[in-house]
Amino acid sequence: MSMAMDQRAPAHETAKAPQGERAPARIRARGLGKRYGALQVFRDIDFEVGEREIVAIVGPSGCGKTTLLRCINGLIPLDAGEIVANGERVTQPIAGMAMVFQHFGLFPWKTVTANVAYGLRMAGATRAEIAEKVPYFINLVGLAGFEHAYPYQMSGGMQQRCGLARALAIEPNVLLMDEPFAAVDAQTREILQFELLRIWSERPTAMVFVTHSIEEAVLMGHRVMVLKGRPSSIFEMVDIDLPFPRNRSTLLHPRFAKLREHVWRCVMDEAQAAERELHV
Ligand SMILES: Nc1ncnc2c1ncn2[C@@H]1O[C@H](COP(=O)(O)OP(=O)(O)O)[C@@H](O)[C@H]1O
Ligand SMILES: [Mg+2]
Repeated sequence: MSMAMDQRAPAHETAKAPQGERAPARIRARGLGKRYGALQVFRDIDFEVGEREIVAIVGPSGCGKTTLLRCINGLIPLDAGEIVANGERVTQPIAGMAMVFQHFGLFPWKTVTANVAYGLRMAGATRAEIAEKVPYFINLVGLAGFEHAYPYQMSGGMQQRCGLARALAIEPNVLLMDEPFAAVDAQTREILQFELLRIWSERPTAMVFVTHSIEEAVLMGHRVMVLKGRPSSIFEMVDIDLPFPRNRSTLLHPRFAKLREHVWRCVMDEAQAAERELHV
């Protein structure tokens, strides 16, 4: 098996495309470049994400992961290249894409129900649709019984379940996640990782999942994009050829350890180089 850079759309066990056909890409990114004033954040970024594919992104802090997600989401403009998502060139937020944020992004003055309904209302759903869908998605993320709770009454893990329900409720075909579990404790994080995999297998979407955890990237992703350099670009697109469904036993798979080690090496020689630079 090759862990070399691989830009092909992969065929996965989970892909339901007819035999012999490649799953169509949901996101095509070509030649992406972004700068903030004099700071060139990334350049020459090319990748595709299939319609039922999870691409996890890892890279050192400040390499532009959040910026890249915001560009995919159409929240900030690119300086070079283009992104086509759902067949549409992204120049502003487009239908069918949802984002889950690191710090949950919930309205503190709204209940779980109202927070989940908000995204649907913004997407133009009718009252009847909202009344039908909100309880379904609250139940899907395991928050049944907390419909009337406010964010401050819930743990970080429950707040992120609510953030996830809000994103899922619009039934996106592209889900963007920016370090969604970074603000919860280690045990909750592990629970939520497997919950997210379960939910994804029930409702597969294209997913771009940013994380600073190499282990999490290998566990979640069909592929792992390693960003590095200054400005950053794709150092390697690593195929994670572990079977789905992924679960706790995936963590014990000898192949899991090998892939984790490989991604770790990709990321760490950069981190070590950066550290050496600081000491020059
Ligand atoms: N709005 C902004 N204006 C200027 N610089 C920014 C802005 N947002 C991020 N940056 C800078 O761009 C770089 C990439 O940031 P970010 O995308 O947040 O990285 P990451 O998510 O990988 O940690 C960092 O050096 C950060 O300081
Ligand atoms: Mg970030």
